Amino acid sequence: MTDFLWGAATAAFQIEGASTEDGREASIWDVFCQVPGAVANGDDGTVATDHYHRWEADVALMAGLGLQAYRFSVAWPRVVSADGTPNAAGLDFYERLVDGLLAAGIEPWLTLYHWDLPASLPGGWLNRATAERFAQYALVVHDRLGDRVRRWTTLNEPWCSSMLSYGAGVPAPGHADPTEALTAAHHLLLGHGLAARALREADASASIGITLNYTPAVPADPTNPAYIDVVRRVDGTAHRLFTDAVFGRGYPADVVADAGAAWPAEAVRAGDEAVIGAPLDFLGVNYYTTEMIRAGVPAGPSPHVTAPEAEVVPRGLPTTDMGWEIDPDGFARLLGRLHDTWAGPAGVPIYITENGAACADEPDADGFVNDTDRIAYLDAHLAAVEEARGAGADVRGYFAWTLLDNFEWAFGYAKRFGIVRVDEELRRIPKASARWFAQQIATGRLGAPRS
Ligand code: FCB
Repeated sequence: MTDFLWGAATAAFQIEGASTEDGREASIWDVFCQVPGAVANGDDGTVATDHYHRWEADVALMAGLGLQAYRFSVAWPRVVSADGTPNAAGLDFYERLVDGLLAAGIEPWLTLYHWDLPASLPGGWLNRATAERFAQYALVVHDRLGDRVRRWTTLNEPWCSSMLSYGAGVPAPGHADPTEALTAAHHLLLGHGLAARALREADASASIGITLNYTPAVPADPTNPAYIDVVRRVDGTAHRLFTDAVFGRGYPADVVADAGAAWPAEAVRAGDEAVIGAPLDFLGVNYYTTEMIRAGVPAGPSPHVTAPEAEVVPRGLPTTDMGWEIDPDGFARLLGRLHDTWAGPAGVPIYITENGAACADEPDADGFVNDTDRIAYLDAHLAAVEEARGAGADVRGYFAWTLLDNFEWAFGYAKRFGIVRVDEELRRIPKASARWFAQQIATGRLGAPRS
């Protein structure tokens, strides 16, 4: 298949380590890891998989698997200092990595923001100035790498860095306030728009997009109006708010109405929605699961800031080690919806920028993991991509999450998503899923047909 790009994805904070080397400053995740109880087992990103020092071997590993593209993120606090000046030593690292990838015939796919905000930025994403600083940072990276990197993703999953981080109090910085969550979402989206504009002005031929995460919600009882309405509100802040905005449609009226007094009317200035809605070259889609929802009783802070009573009802489907239900049919339906509603009408292709499974891996005496469960997950989801493509969705690539077992945010190192095992000595041992994935790439086969 020549019109399909195969790759794997990672994120800086989850793999790099070297958290104080060569002038890297602290991110909000370094700070969050210090909060007692915030991260499982008190884990942190100080060493992670030590990719900062082992990048050369990791690129060789990718080449061995036949990856055509590698989606990685740049750590903002590694390349720009608190006073705004570029940090040449940090940029050198990404230059080495990009050159190494290109020499290995692997396309670098660069994400500018995968959650590791410089801790020095006052107010974080609650401050409009952070959006402007983000655009300046984008240009710093582009100045160094723009002649070699052609694909630029502004943000990874802004829902997580706003609704979860500022609404549900779970990931860094760990706040729980609906107005803060919506304000952060707006400033993230504004940062996307400003960065996309700056990159476009600097480089007319760059391909610029954003990665959004989708967890489709289905009502526990499709005949119950209260359940249908709670699903509408969940979908509103989780999906339509972000997707409508980046496709130039502005913020959905029902979301603004549902938010009521919590809507950050002062933060959303005239002209902002036009900046956010500048044309995209691709939509990155991250998908793991769907959720069945009912209207329950609000229990503590919720990422669903206009639907705090949303309650997930387990359906008894098989789950991954995250407890996430496995639903490849939901993936095919999602891709159809994204194509029909947003990407298709705008003529924008879709790339799956993350999909994968945490499994309770059991290594044998040599450290080899025969992860048939992960293979089954990937296979079924690739088949869903094939199905969606057959039905007309313009999906042009797939990045497995993730290359290496790594720091899974608040779950620390306890959850393993890698197709390559990283053991206690940080040795890389490809799992059965890595071999299987390499075969899929070699044959260009998307997945076994589903009955
Ligand atoms: C996504 C993140 C990624 C990883 C996977 C499991 O939300 O983008 O970094 O943690 O989930």
